[in-house]
Amino acid sequence: MENTVETRKKRVLSMIQPTGVFTLGNYLGALRNFVALQDDYECVYALADLHAITVRQEPAAFRKNTLSAYAMMLALGINPEKSIFFIQSQVPEHAQLAWILNCYTQFGELSRMTQFKDKAAKHADNVNAGLFTYPCLMAADILLYNADYVPVGADQKQHLELARNVAERFNGLYSPTFVVPEGLIPKTGARIMSLQDPTKKMSKSDDNTASFITMLDTPDQIIKKFRRAVTDSEACVRYGEGKDGINNLMGIYSSITGKTYAEIEREFDGRGYGDFKTAVGEAVVETLEPIQTRYKALVQDKAYLEKCYSEAAPRAEAIARRTLHKAMKKVGYLPTIR
Ligand code: TRP
Repeated sequence: MENTVETRKKRVLSMIQPTGVFTLGNYLGALRNFVALQDDYECVYALADLHAITVRQEPAAFRKNTLSAYAMMLALGINPEKSIFFIQSQVPEHAQLAWILNCYTQFGELSRMTQFKDKAAKHADNVNAGLFTYPCLMAADILLYNADYVPVGADQKQHLELARNVAERFNGLYSPTFVVPEGLIPKTGARIMSLQDPTKKMSKSDDNTASFITMLDTPDQIIKKFRRAVTDSEACVRYGEGKDGINNLMGIYSSITGKTYAEIEREFDGRGYGDFKTAVGEAVVETLEPIQTRYKALVQDKAYLEKCYSEAAPRAEAIARRTLHKAMKKVGYLPTIR
């Protein structure tokens, strides 16, 4: 029977770029939520390697990072049997629908994207067309799978809004074709900040490696980075204004232990920042250790990784192809006969 929009299980779609080792910010802000969503939704996840080349990649490192990101996602709990977890470049429909959506997106709309402006400033020597039309590719990623929900970090909200607008525009011009998705922005741990400048988001592209924790940092590195984390001079563990560093550490601690801010304040009442930083560091170490153990085994098992992504691509493509052809028909393309 036709799987209609009304009767199917709600679908979640999200992707992440495989451009380097993931950070604790990626994990607590997004990836851990990807894992949890697998219990309640039909999940489609992918490594956005087409997006990745909007910034120049060195081929050997890029290949290695993609495989390593795939292994890390499995290690942290993406279940390749339950969810479809594929690699974007292996499903050509993404590039195909992205082209069509390019023609339904205005130059002015794309010019307003803050991520484009930021990245164009950061990579002034390579402001390529892909960087500019990147949101159309992201819209294609989302719309191909009829996603109901798209878990994204706060920095991707504007791109998601664009995807919704483009979907509505296309549906309005022709007839309902795409599902207009809702964002899913996690409540806690949504925004993990830099340990060195807690007004900035934690980012692996930060020049100062002490500002971020990676998923592969050793226990020793993790503890040291937390001990060096920038705080304030009040020496009181409480959540408050002007206490960005402590707020961030409390956010991390709360997101890992499930404790509320009030409980954390009570736990560290009368104790200094040293104790608190060590406790946060130890909690992070404890969370990352089992993931790292699984990662180390998985990343060496190339045959298994290859089997997982090779089986996922045709499953993804079966869904993507139908949506693409539906859209192509609406536009007026002749059907492809093979
Ligand atoms: N642009 C997203 C990022 O950099 C990654 C991404 C690509 C994505 N396609 C997507 C996220 C589709 C959600 C849905 O974080």
